[in-house]
Amino acid sequence: MGSDHLVRRARPQDAAAISRLNNIFADEGQMLRRSPEMISLAIDDYVVVQNAVGELTACGAIKEYSPSVAEIAAVAVSREARGNGLGRAIVTAVEALARKRGIYDVFALTLQPDFFARIGYLRVDRARYPEKIRRDCLACPRRFACNEICFAKNLVLAEVEQAA
Ligand SMILES: CC(C)(COP(=O)(O)OP(=O)(O)OC[C@H]1O[C@@H](n2cnc3c(N)ncnc32)[C@H](O)[C@@H]1OP(=O)(O)O)[C@@H](O)C(=O)NCCC(=O)NCCS
Repeated sequence: MGSDHLVRRARPQDAAAISRLNNIFADEGQMLRRSPEMISLAIDDYVVVQNAVGELTACGAIKEYSPSVAEIAAVAVSREARGNGLGRAIVTAVEALARKRGIYDVFALTLQPDFFARIGYLRVDRARYPEKIRRDCLACPRRFACNEICFAKNLVLAEVEQAA
């Protein structure tokens, strides 16, 4: 990732731009729709990448399910900015947010399994996350035809592996 990109926590005034970026891919069925209002309410959970002229080129969020488990959610990189490590940088920044909150078990439900495998996540059975199933999956219209794949990472183990 070049030095012309800045990874930072989101600010309240970013909500509309995050929503626009998110909803480009929501319209293509790649992620859930999120309004600026929904994002504003959870703005402390978002991280973004900003380019040299101040445009948001990537975003992602942490979604807590319990004091020890969180989802890496709403990861999106603008088409023009892909292939430059921004997706990885966003996930790393969300992981840092998780660690700061004392959360070490993170997972993602995704249609991009190769991306998550490439950045160190392991494929797991989603049954490992009953909190997610209870809160979101049971009410989802696609629950019997869901093609999202569950990936997870233990941040403590990842730290130990990095240090070794
Ligand atoms: C998936 C997405 C976030 C990847 O963003 P990106 O900035 O292009 O990813 P990066 O450049 O950080 O890629 C990191 C690594 O993953 C690999 N990778 C990225 N996307 C990939 C894909 N679709 N298939 C296979 N590998 C992929 C890259 O080659 C790179 O590997 P390397 O480290 O060996 O070079 C982006 O394509 C996107 O926003 N897609 C639409 C929204 C979406 O599906 N989000 C995921 C929802 S959970």
